[in-house]
Amino acid sequence: MKIVAGSASKRLAGKLGEVLNVPVIEAQYKLFPDGESYFRIPESVEGEDIIIVQTTGPPQDKHILELVFLLDTVKDFGAKKVTLVVPYLAYARQDERYLEGEVLSSKVVAKILNSIGANKLLTVDVHNEAVLSFYNFEAINLFASEVFADYIEKMELKDPFVLCPDQERPEILKPIADRLGTEYDWLEKFRDRITGEVKTKEKKLPVKDRDVLIVDDIISTGWTVVNAINILKKQGARDIYVFATHLVFAEGARERILNAGAKEIIGTDSIERDESKVTLAPLIAKHL
Ligand code: R5P
Repeated sequence: MKIVAGSASKRLAGKLGEVLNVPVIEAQYKLFPDGESYFRIPESVEGEDIIIVQTTGPPQDKHILELVFLLDTVKDFGAKKVTLVVPYLAYARQDERYLEGEVLSSKVVAKILNSIGANKLLTVDVHNEAVLSFYNFEAINLFASEVFADYIEKMELKDPFVLCPDQERPEILKPIADRLGTEYDWLEKFRDRITGEVKTKEKKLPVKDRDVLIVDDIISTGWTVVNAINILKKQGARDIYVFATHLVFAEGARERILNAGAKEIIGTDSIERDESKVTLAPLIAKHL
């Protein structure tokens, strides 16, 4: 078995190699003066079980194309079985056509990968599991709540409360709340499909003088989390910690969240950021 590390996931691939005790091949990459990319896999993959680790965070299109290049190349050079580890699966929020004429991008990405062929796809906290049905090979979604719970357990928190900033799958918070021996709840959020504006319905929460952990799958613009912070502060919450599996961080989201009053942002190495304090490597390794 060998791991091929794509340019977007070098750190995670290295950690996965350590956990699994398998060699990691770093794909060679350069940019030509005209803007085209060059890749090379500098070691033999013939007859090997290959794990390609390449997340598809920003710039999404570039990282998807790299994944396609790497997959096609290992197949061409005789890899036996290929597993794609794509912790952040780009375009999973375009899981259907919400407006007439929209590109069903999550399906297009799957069609491209299907056409080359792989044996398995592992992703984490995919925004909508429905997109996995577009794959004609095994596609599995893992949940980061387990590794977040390991991290949270070591924090010193005052009477913690766990909050999902929207109504999308709040039940994934249960393992965290259970580990802390506390409760969890969620808010209801609406996004304007045309302007992208995020609105969150106020709700009375038992957070006065308590530390609150906001847990979400993605931080993109950060408005979902900012709205939740504003509601929590109004209701007298103490320290607010923001956990997200995928730190996409579009349009100054990090600053927006910290300025709103979050004490700390904690993410995973699904997308490699300064705040990637929790590694997904043990979770992924368990499923390989
Ligand atoms: C979607 O509903 C997700 O669970 C996240 O809440 C959302 O993607 C975050 O987006 P933003 O950071 O742009 O508010």
